[in-house]
Amino acid sequence: MTVFLNGQFLPISEAKVSVLDRGFIFGDGVYEVIPVYSRQIFRLPEHLQRLRRSLDNIQLPNPYQDEEWISIIRELVSRNEPEDQYLYLHITRGVAKRDHAFPNPPVPATVFLMSNPLNTPPARLLQSGISAITAPDNRWLRCDIKAISLLPNVLLRQMAIYAGCAETIMIRDNEFMTEGAASNIFIVKNGVLIAPPKDHLMLPGITYDVVLELAASNNIPRQVRKVLLRELLNADELLLTSSTKEVLAITQLDEKLVGTGKPGPMFEKLYGLYQKFKQEIMRA
Ligand code: PDD
Repeated sequence: MTVFLNGQFLPISEAKVSVLDRGFIFGDGVYEVIPVYSRQIFRLPEHLQRLRRSLDNIQLPNPYQDEEWISIIRELVSRNEPEDQYLYLHITRGVAKRDHAFPNPPVPATVFLMSNPLNTPPARLLQSGISAITAPDNRWLRCDIKAISLLPNVLLRQMAIYAGCAETIMIRDNEFMTEGAASNIFIVKNGVLIAPPKDHLMLPGITYDVVLELAASNNIPRQVRKVLLRELLNADELLLTSSTKEVLAITQLDEKLVGTGKPGPMFEKLYGLYQKFKQEIMRA
């Protein structure tokens, strides 16, 4: 596997970062996950825009212009074998003596990219849906930043695994749903697709945007608004979205069936539209 580290393409076994890197010491950095289908990079401008936004929000200058990012990313895709890949892009505030305050004068950012094979969910999971649990959202108040410091998300995802489930849906203030540990969540009630708003309490998902755009262009009734806990627990369908999972049905929540316990009509419709959209991108 070929990776990119600080200006160089090299085998992953040769990629080394200092133990004083602020990513390692403080989790001081941001990241992106970008799907690649048949070597076509999915929604690259949108991913680069979200990256810029994350960098601005942590006051870290963007180490590259968009054109430079695009050529690095294209090169990385071409140097790795799989046709379908997911790219992991990671930028930290660099290597400096341990001090919480930013290095002064600033030091060069650490820039790391790797490619992994993209294995979208198998047919079995598409047909059965997945199980999830709910748990309090105990993260900070800037969940809109795609920060590499993911300890709460790690612990929340592991909680799901211990419960024999695939994802944890987070609840703020015992009142409303925010998102999954590593995904966005939609509910469906009486044929209406309902999504929580892109505010400071959730990550603005690229897949989330695609699903809402597909719903809009196909006249699917939809609302973007706060989703109350009781609405989550009484939904007809629940959907999960992310760059690596695409669109999945959640068919069990906290050991109870969601709706009929089978992926429902909204899932079927949106999954189909998403796959069609992907095909169009791949032919572009
Ligand atoms: N995670 N919310 C959280 C907390 C996430 O970590 C992710 C994705 C999403 C979905 O965003 P997108 O549609 O842009 O992938 C929502 C990635 C896949 C990860 O950390 O591996």
